[in-house]
Amino acid sequence: MDDVIVRIAEPIDFAGRISFNSALEVMEIDLGNVEFANREMVRQFYDEVDRQMERMGGRWYFLINYENCIVAPEVWDDFALRGKLANVNYSNGTARFGATDETRKTIRKRAEAERFRSNLYESRDEALAMLATMRRRHQFQGMPSRVDPGRAADILLKIENVSLRFGGVNALQAVSFEIERGEIVAIIGPNGAGKTSMLNVINGFYHPQEGAITFKGERRHQMRPYIAASHGIGRTFQNVALFKGMSTLDNIMSGRALKMHKGLLWQFLHWGPAQKEELKHREAVEQIIDFLEIEHIRKVPVGRLPYGLQKRVELGRALAMEPELLLLDEPMAGMNLEEKEDMSRYILDVNRQFGTTIALIEHDMGVVMDLSNFVVVLDHGIKISEGPPGEVQTDPVVIRAYLGMGQ
Ligand SMILES: Nc1ncnc2c1ncn2[C@@H]1O[C@H](COP(=O)(O)OP(=O)(O)OP(=O)(O)O)[C@@H](O)[C@H]1O
Ligand SMILES: [Mg+2]
Repeated sequence: MDDVIVRIAEPIDFAGRISFNSALEVMEIDLGNVEFANREMVRQFYDEVDRQMERMGGRWYFLINYENCIVAPEVWDDFALRGKLANVNYSNGTARFGATDETRKTIRKRAEAERFRSNLYESRDEALAMLATMRRRHQFQGMPSRVDPGRAADILLKIENVSLRFGGVNALQAVSFEIERGEIVAIIGPNGAGKTSMLNVINGFYHPQEGAITFKGERRHQMRPYIAASHGIGRTFQNVALFKGMSTLDNIMSGRALKMHKGLLWQFLHWGPAQKEELKHREAVEQIIDFLEIEHIRKVPVGRLPYGLQKRVELGRALAMEPELLLLDEPMAGMNLEEKEDMSRYILDVNRQFGTTIALIEHDMGVVMDLSNFVVVLDHGIKISEGPPGEVQTDPVVIRAYLGMGQ
């Protein structure tokens, strides 16, 4: 009798494909050339991940190689569910690289629906760099309040005695405060307190009659819009200020304008290199689109989008210039609770993942409490209080201002 040769696929040694780098806090998983053909394989793989994570303990950054990895459509749900659990249980953040177009698309779509970051990269180096950034940013999370003694301050922006008048209106009167690198500072106060005016002074739209603005160590009597923007101050507005007829993608791309060094004539004369530069910017923009989970509206003219999404696109455009200091004027105004929660999460993520320092104007005290680690309170153009959110909230002077009794 002839031998019947039954080919059984070699069991995959998942254990050998998982490695840990404790210095980088990275768990690396190599799924190169793996084909997840059935649920059993998915189970084996994630059981192994769970086993190793239990053994190592703690939370790790995940780095996953997807080169030539195929996940059969019918097992995607299982794969994604177990992946989500692993992330929730043990991950500080995940970066993926090498995925085929098909896999990328699926991951992006799922990320959108499940609200996680797809963090897809071409190469391992890029993915590693992203994790390194994430790790650095996470250190801000535990940042003590700035009033803690003995903490070395790294002042990014210093406002000194700024006064701004419009005719007889004192929009700002001798206002001083500081913003440290890595912070989220909330500027609060009743209507007409001077909050928007303060942001306008910081990014050079308004020129104060008195005072000084020191940004990154450079002291100026007034800021100029171009200098603010080119030195890394980004901005969103109280009323959405987008090109309504242009798509999400083009609006965000327009935020890159400052980063594009080559002028139009140059582009005309040097088609090749200009194209290369354009591609680079496109990539950066794609990452922002990924980050803000707005893939599905990339082609939609923003005028047609609901308000909450327009606000997100506006944030995207501000991010496109890679600001060091991001000024947000009521980023959650007019949003429902769910949209507010979303926006809060993006703001926190921008701060943590990119290390962007943020100054935001917000009326909702709950949001202020959740997001900021320092609060500046204005009323009638005067700074009436400042400090950690918990303290400011109970400050009688602040309560009085909000109750309208301080007038
Ligand atoms: N361009 C301007 N011309 C004249 N007055 C102005 C101008 N900009 C602001 N003001 C005045 O300065 C004061 C502060 O206004 P600002 O818009 O800064 O307040 P705000 O705290 O942002 O208020 P809101 O919560 O309503 O947005 C107000 O009295 C306002 O009318
Ligand atoms: Mg305002």
